[in-house]
Amino acid sequence: MTSMDWGMKNRISKIIHPDDGRCLMLAVDHGYFLGPTERLEVPRRTITPLLPYADSLMLTRGVLRTSVDPETNVPIVLRVSGGASIVGEDLSKETITTSMEEAIKLNVSCLALSIFVGSKYEHQTLASLAKLVDEGERYGIPVLAVTAVGKEMARDARYLGLACRVAAELGAHVVKTYYCEGFEKVVEGCPVPLIIAGGKKLPREIDALQLAYDAIEHGAVGVDMGRNIWQSDYPVPMIKAVRTIVHKGATVKEAYDLFLKEKDKEKPRSSEPQKIISR
Ligand code: R5P
Repeated sequence: MTSMDWGMKNRISKIIHPDDGRCLMLAVDHGYFLGPTERLEVPRRTITPLLPYADSLMLTRGVLRTSVDPETNVPIVLRVSGGASIVGEDLSKETITTSMEEAIKLNVSCLALSIFVGSKYEHQTLASLAKLVDEGERYGIPVLAVTAVGKEMARDARYLGLACRVAAELGAHVVKTYYCEGFEKVVEGCPVPLIIAGGKKLPREIDALQLAYDAIEHGAVGVDMGRNIWQSDYPVPMIKAVRTIVHKGATVKEAYDLFLKEKDKEKPRSSEPQKIISR
C-alpha cells in the first residue's frame, strides 16, 4: 500500500468507523453563510459539551481555530467552500475558500464542499469539487460533497439522486444529502457512502430521531446533524440519543427513552439567544 492510500484509508476510518461502518458527524459550520445562527452564536459554548459524543466535527477553519482546543482528539471535517451569504446575490456562488496547505496544517481528516446542482452557479461548484478531489487525492485527504438544495429545487429522490450521483462521479469519497421518500433509490444510485443532514430544527426531538433512524434503515451510513442537536433544549441528551441509533442500532423508541432519561438529569437550556462575549 502506498503512503497516500494508507493516509486516505486512515482518514476515512476517522469519519466512518470501520467497526460498524457508521458515522456521527456533528455539523457546526452554519455560520459560514448564516452568520451567528441561533444557539451557535458562541461556537465554543455549543461545541464543547457535545464533543465527547461526536465521531467527527464539521466546521470552518475560523471556528476551528477560535473555538476548539488543538489538544482535542475529535477528527475534523473542514468546510472549505463558501463565499456567499444569506443576504448576498446568490447562495450558489461558492468557491474554494481554504487552501490544501491550510487543511494539512490543521491536520484535518476530511474536506467538505457544497455543490449546487441545477442552480445558477452549478458549474462553478462542480468544477470546484473536481479540483478539490484532485488535490485531496494528492495528499490522501478524502472529500465530502454536500448536496446543497436551492430554493427552486424539490428535495425528492429524483433530484437528490442526480446530485449525489454527480458528486460521486466527480470523485467525492462521501456524500451528504437529505433524507427523502424513496431514499433507497438515492442510495442505490450513489456508489459512495451517504450521510444525511438533519435540516431545520424539527418541532419534536422524536421526529429528528425518526429521521436519523429512517435514513440509516434505508441505507445511509450515518448523519451529519447540527440544528436538531444543538438547537434542542437538551443538546447532550439529544446527541446521545442520535448516537444510540447510529452506533447501537437502537429503535426510535429506545433512543427517545434514552433522551427522556438523560433530559431528566439536566436543566433545560435557556431559550434566550446566547450572549456573545469577547474572549
Ligand atoms: C449546511 O449548510 C451545513 O453544511 C450543515 O452542515 C448541514 O446542513 C447539516 O446541518 P443541519 O443538520 O443543521 O442541517
